[in-house]
Amino acid sequence: MRISRFTPRRCAALLPSVFLMLLCALVASAQADMNGYWAFHVKDGGVAYFQLQQNGENVSSVSPAGRGGGGGGRGGGLTGTLHNGKLHLETAPPAAAPAGAPAPAGAAGGRGAAQVRITVYDGAVTNANRVDVSKTTTGGKTYPGWFERVPREEAVPNRVAPPELHDVPDNGLARTPPMGWNSWNKFQDEFDDATVRGMADAMVSSGMAKAGYTYIVVDEGWTSGRDASGHIIGNGKFPNMKALADYVHSKGLKIGIYSSPGPQSCSGRMGGGYEGSFNHEDDDAMTFANWGYDYLKYDWCSARGVYDGTREANQGAYQKMGEALLKTGRPIVYSLCQYGSGDVWKWGAKTGGNLWRTTGDIGDRWESMEQRGFGNIEISKYTRVGHWNDPDMLEVGNGGMTADEYRTHMSLWCMLQSPLMAGNDLRSMTDETKSILMNPDVIALDQDREPHPVQYLSQQGKSEVVIRQLSGDAYAVGLYNRGDNPAEISFRWDALKFDTGLYGFRRLVAQDLWKHEPVPTTGDTFTATVPKHGVVLLRVSIAAGRGGF
Ligand code: GLA
Repeated sequence: MRISRFTPRRCAALLPSVFLMLLCALVASAQADMNGYWAFHVKDGGVAYFQLQQNGENVSSVSPAGRGGGGGGRGGGLTGTLHNGKLHLETAPPAAAPAGAPAPAGAAGGRGAAQVRITVYDGAVTNANRVDVSKTTTGGKTYPGWFERVPREEAVPNRVAPPELHDVPDNGLARTPPMGWNSWNKFQDEFDDATVRGMADAMVSSGMAKAGYTYIVVDEGWTSGRDASGHIIGNGKFPNMKALADYVHSKGLKIGIYSSPGPQSCSGRMGGGYEGSFNHEDDDAMTFANWGYDYLKYDWCSARGVYDGTREANQGAYQKMGEALLKTGRPIVYSLCQYGSGDVWKWGAKTGGNLWRTTGDIGDRWESMEQRGFGNIEISKYTRVGHWNDPDMLEVGNGGMTADEYRTHMSLWCMLQSPLMAGNDLRSMTDETKSILMNPDVIALDQDREPHPVQYLSQQGKSEVVIRQLSGDAYAVGLYNRGDNPAEISFRWDALKFDTGLYGFRRLVAQDLWKHEPVPTTGDTFTATVPKHGVVLLRVSIAAGRGGF
């Protein structure tokens, strides 16, 4: 049934009848017709939807393409040719992302340095509804895949009205910020069941579990769609999601999973989005519960294609899953991921959310981390027990920042009481990475049971002193140098307003949490030389006894 065998000329030679010749020509042109809606599948990867149009031998995609959120996920539109049954398409560079959208992987603001990604699809038409192709990415990686013709309704699902809003009851979970590991920062969607099991093993053997890290979260990349009854299922990389959960539980850990309020997730390195929970919220929540999952990261992605962009629609979409999770009866931590749009910190808890992303995706670069960490200080007052601002997962150990920068990263996240989701390969951590991720004194700031807002004591040029009151009448004090040269930074001890007050035999005690040593509290001020992009982090409290100022 290849089109090359049924060209009009061959048909004419074989069949003298003019009528049959015309029929063959019609069949050939019908088979060669790429006009319509297509799903591009990567084997064990995501699916990207395109509306293609053909003009002679030229083929291009029509924008917006549909359910992946436009242009087939994070790629740009497609342009190319169909010649003698051979299809060649390339992605055009992606258009600028709408405000609030996650940065495209590999693009400016995304994980790596700014670059234009061109993906090439080459293959042969199998029949009128299928073209087998291989896809080659900018990095030269090739993935087998296929284009499959789909009905318009599948490519462009109807928009829906959000449900009426009401408050979903608090699930009583995540009384301190959740700690764990998530696959995305290191692996994107190129990981599998064995990787996750390896990470669970390493969580225990490295000491991370003892330090408090509990959740192993499988981010985008695990599903292939739905079975005949509509239940969500794993793909070739994740053949048995229940067995994986059992394994992680057998290590004394908890496990998390990932989905979207839209029909598809965003799209990773392999390309295209994976199945989302749109219109299957109750069923998916029950499936996750039956498999034994303890945590759900729920990522907006293609939901922008089915809900309007209002805050109410956003809240409604998250409320649906919040309720569905509660109905399962299983304790499942609910992690909202919609990049902070509509000031989610003001309403995320009403959807049953335990944590909500406040920013676009973090990259393993100083500027990206700095912007997210310091940018969260002003909204830290919205963080409270069971409901946490999430400036995105940790990059510590991924290699893109210096040790000083990673210490600043960890210090800021703990100062903000952010969820601590390690995003590195736990199986191969250097001692330095371990010392940053597992510093018990810094983690203790994060896990303090009394959330108080973070405040600026001073901001002078690129030197900033940031404090947070802790339980037990103590303070965390961070002296941050955002500048490119070492800086002397000071603060006055009496700027810390202790509830107890300083009188009689009371005195201050202060501990440098990175040097693991006490610092003198004599004199009016504390001064430290802080390296470029570095931090000095103190815990200051009151102890009975003579001394101090
Ligand atoms: C979004 C999220 C990321 C990750 C990816 C997966 O960009 O913000 O954390 O889950 O989707 O595609």
